[in-house]
Amino acid sequence: MLWRHNMAATLPFSIPEELLLEARRYTHLFHKECGTPHDYAQRVEAVRIELERTGTYRHTQDELTYGAMVAWRNNARCIGRLHWRSLQVRDMRHLSTAQDIFSALVEHIRLATNGGKIRSMITVFAPQTPGQSGIRIWNPQLIRYAGYRQADGSIVGDPLNADLTEAMHRLGWRRTQGGAFDVLPLVIQLPGQPPEIFELPPECVLEVMLSHPDFPWFEDLGIKWHALPVISNMRLEIGGISYTAAPFNGWYMGTEIGARNLGDVERYNLLPVIAQAIGLQTRSDRTLWKDRALVELNRAVLYSFERAGVTIIDHHTASRQFVHHEKHERQAGRSLYADWGWIVPPMSGSTMPVFHTPYENRQTTPNFFYQNDPWLENSLRPAL
Ligand code: ARG
Repeated sequence: MLWRHNMAATLPFSIPEELLLEARRYTHLFHKECGTPHDYAQRVEAVRIELERTGTYRHTQDELTYGAMVAWRNNARCIGRLHWRSLQVRDMRHLSTAQDIFSALVEHIRLATNGGKIRSMITVFAPQTPGQSGIRIWNPQLIRYAGYRQADGSIVGDPLNADLTEAMHRLGWRRTQGGAFDVLPLVIQLPGQPPEIFELPPECVLEVMLSHPDFPWFEDLGIKWHALPVISNMRLEIGGISYTAAPFNGWYMGTEIGARNLGDVERYNLLPVIAQAIGLQTRSDRTLWKDRALVELNRAVLYSFERAGVTIIDHHTASRQFVHHEKHERQAGRSLYADWGWIVPPMSGSTMPVFHTPYENRQTTPNFFYQNDPWLENSLRPAL
């Protein structure tokens, strides 16, 4: 192999071994699962040459599409993985300005919302180049409500987004309404450039006002939630390549909104409000007022989304679908990893089969990974 050794010495990059290994592993999976195993060796050789020449390599559109689907399939915390093959993948790797990226994000919201008939979708922007930071969307989701810290320490809006809201204020953004459900603008940052801020056109953000099948007073509480959960701060990794901006969405499971976003003490903390409106005795925990308010709030979420024609799944159906998914994966000869604490829904756990199943939790690639919040990038805070 003297010849190859000499040649490598004249080229600008020594092969990043780790990357080559990851590229091989994914290329193998891709060709095996897509029924083209005979193409594997040739593709790996092409990738190796590209790595040698440029220090990185470019996925074909098919590799990218399938990799995004497998990243979903591999994500141990997602209960909705039965639908992994239905993911629509938009290849936006060619976009190079924040303005164009913003337009593609608005288009993503429109296409995925689809008038309420939610489509699972991912938009993939250019990957990180070695030795540089990647493109980042600061918002953890494309649609999120502001959290305004008040002088007395309380928060108006969603406390989860109070830090982001303050970071946006530092960028010069001024609150538009100061209300409990103000949609935040998007912050997009290209490598080595300052972040840019864009307001979402309000008409592209579909929201559902909550009402209750039995309690007419419920809608007077003025509670609402957005229809589309688009996670926009995770890194998609395929074959060793990192896509640091690759926002993706499915549809909501009711408890995400009714149990967590609106119910958590650290979020909208609405259980006491609802219990009081129902007329429950809230002095003692043993009346189970929290549990009863939780059920009614979650009924309101499912009822309102369905009435508005917006796709949503209840936790019983979702956990049944997950059990189907487990069976499919077993039949396909693959192992299924799952994070039990995330798979079991946050209410009525023991009524669902997933509660009674132990799972092995492992993080495999392709997958979606957490990244540091970009506004803290120079601080020492580690990623969760
Ligand atoms: N739990 C998050 C939220 O409430 C959304 C996470 C993704 N959920 C989904 N159904 N794809 O906003």
